[in-house]
Amino acid sequence: MGNLLTVAYLVAATLFILSLGGLSTQETARRGNYFGVFGMGVALLVTLFHPDVGTYGYVFGATVIGGGIGALLASRVAMTAMPELVALLHSFVGAAAVLVGYSTFLAPPHELAGVEKVIHDIEIFLDVAIGAITLTGSIVAWGKLSGRMGGRPLLIPQRHTWNAAAALTCCALVIPFSFGGEGFGLAMLVAMTVIAGALGAHLVLAIGGADMPVVVSLLNSYSGWTAAAAGFMLGNDLLIVTGALVGSSGAILSYIMCEAMNRSIWNVVFGGFGTGEAVAAGPRPDQPQGEVEPIEIDPLAELLRDAESVIVVPGYGMAVAQAQHAVQEFSEGLRKAGKQVRFAIHPVAGRLPGHMNVLLAEAGVPYDIVLEMEEINEDFPETDVVLVIGANDIVNPGALDDPTSPIYGMPVLESWRAKTCVVLKRSMGAGYAGVDNPLFVHPHTRMLFGDAKDSMSRLVSALRG
Ligand code: TAP
Repeated sequence: MGNLLTVAYLVAATLFILSLGGLSTQETARRGNYFGVFGMGVALLVTLFHPDVGTYGYVFGATVIGGGIGALLASRVAMTAMPELVALLHSFVGAAAVLVGYSTFLAPPHELAGVEKVIHDIEIFLDVAIGAITLTGSIVAWGKLSGRMGGRPLLIPQRHTWNAAAALTCCALVIPFSFGGEGFGLAMLVAMTVIAGALGAHLVLAIGGADMPVVVSLLNSYSGWTAAAAGFMLGNDLLIVTGALVGSSGAILSYIMCEAMNRSIWNVVFGGFGTGEAVAAGPRPDQPQGEVEPIEIDPLAELLRDAESVIVVPGYGMAVAQAQHAVQEFSEGLRKAGKQVRFAIHPVAGRLPGHMNVLLAEAGVPYDIVLEMEEINEDFPETDVVLVIGANDIVNPGALDDPTSPIYGMPVLESWRAKTCVVLKRSMGAGYAGVDNPLFVHPHTRMLFGDAKDSMSRLVSALRG
């Protein structure tokens, strides 16, 4: 049975690696997902035959209840609420690690002594510590992403010293935990859990709204390392491999996103470390100067008829309006009329990595006209019309030339360099980072006010007419 389990775990681990490989491009992402689902199915099934699993009633009960709630949540969640759901799911991983750590400590599966016991104690301690940081950090991230908590960073004085003190205290507590006997050991474990939990919450509280995309992928990485630590504690190879895969892919994604946003990963890990600490998101006293020039559907249709090249910049508002199908119809119509139409995707457009790519793929936009920021940013000056659909922060020129802006330093899609830039949104309201956008009063910009889906549908009809 042992050999069969090992082979099945190997199959599952291979499927997870194929899954990650598949998820790296849009064309193969669906297949990647299937590999992942299949791998997890194999892992769950063979775990049921593990010699340590005895109480099938609890396992099936928990699977039915947990699976039922998960399926219900997943089927109901709007694409725009995905990041907060992901953050909440990370908190479950953290909570599970803490609970498994406590149960392993209170009811050890094997009697251990000497060095083996010390190593096992360290594994429990590590599992609970990373689990507690992931749990509270993810809950705060969920609160911020869902709007239940404000996006402003909480910057308490000497916060790096507090963080370091908390981390060092957690490390030091492992000694009395391991050598202090059961009752005292439990007290130390509880103390460490409280301190690690406070540390996790504080790390994420110190991060401003504009850096939240990186936090989500960073917590994804933490949840992987939590699982890997649990794998060491339980002596489960598959959990170690899977945790390491999730942990390292989350870390790589965080790094890529930091690069894209021109942020240092340490800045995000330690919460605002080394950046303009006093600069928090919020209304700014210096409003952009200039006149807002609105445009109506018919003149815009005329402009597009005369254009040869068009770039569409989709943002969070396209997801809110569910305008992707109208956008697809629009692009197809123009392409049939012989115009060059391309999509420019900013790495943090929307509210989760790849958000815009998923929506455009769902609507049937061909992959080869969907380009990453660095592939298309140079082409704006030669473009006749840019259509910014429900995007704001990712096209904010202040990110390049206003050092007081919380998004200063983040590369943006330079849509104002096109001959005409038309921005579709409902009002002059700010985006996620809460800053004014000088693009809206730029001499090349025209504003088309209204819901993005409604505006795009009317534009498609006008172009047909
Ligand atoms: P935002 O800056 O959030 O701007 C979206 C704009 O869409 C808003 O200004 C809003 O203006 C408009 N809008 C909302 N509903 C609309 C509708 N029904 N029709 C038309 N317009 C609508 O979005 P962005 O430019 O995509 O930038 C993303 C931001 O989210 C960045 O700051 C990024 O750091 C942050 N973020 C990203 C992620 C990831 S991983 N992508 C995760 C968390 C946070 P009106 O209200 O005036 O319509």
